[in-house]
Amino acid sequence: MAEIPSPKDVTNDFVGYEVLVDFMEERVLHELEGDIIEIGAFIGGGTAKLAKYAQRFGKDVYAVDVFDPGHDKTRDTGGTRMCDIYEAFLQGRSQWEVYCETTRGFDNIITIDKDSRDVEFSQKQHFVFGFIDGNHDPEYVRNDFYLVWGNLVPGGSVGFHDYDFDLPEVTETVDSIIAEHKDEIDDIHEIKGKYIILLTKKRSVG
Ligand SMILES: C[S@@+](CC[C@H](N)C(=O)[O-])C[C@H]1O[C@@H](n2cnc3c(N)ncnc32)[C@H](O)[C@@H]1O
Repeated sequence: MAEIPSPKDVTNDFVGYEVLVDFMEERVLHELEGDIIEIGAFIGGGTAKLAKYAQRFGKDVYAVDVFDPGHDKTRDTGGTRMCDIYEAFLQGRSQWEVYCETTRGFDNIITIDKDSRDVEFSQKQHFVFGFIDGNHDPEYVRNDFYLVWGNLVPGGSVGFHDYDFDLPEVTETVDSIIAEHKDEIDDIHEIKGKYIILLTKKRSVG
């Protein structure tokens, strides 16, 4: 896990989503047709930042989270379970209630309160950007990638958190995904200090 936000500041997020917004701005992803998806919203600080950006371009943010802080039992290299980090942070507060408080006032956030394995989108739903930071088990990392990639428009990007950090199975899974999909990927961009890797889909295959 990277930086842990202060429990007092509900507008905060673990990742520092400003770098994601900067990436979307630099790549002018807003000019593409489609919405934004986030898998792993936690208390919604990052969701609100994505929604503020998306609002300027008439886009929606789909936020997927199971809203069960005990769900992810993956351990980092120090042996700490992800669920223990989330529960310690919440200090007995309801994740759902803090999320609702943080994201209140945005009419362009569509919250999907589900296990990401149970989420499906119609082929009509297009995404220009996706960010994956949900369950860190390799099966979920893979599931979440396909949930985004299948509906990602050509030229759109998907990012993963916890790349090359203290969850080696996340890194290994992302590396396998990259190898398997190399013909569909145009560009790979790493934001090293933030443990983020972003893959941009080719505009045309072949
Ligand atoms: C590391 S936190 C997300 C942090 C957030 N991206 C931020 O920077 O503030 C991971 C989130 O994934 C959610 N999660 C865990 N397992 C999930 C699953 N199977 N489906 C959807 N969300 C899940 C947890 O509830 C938690 O809110």
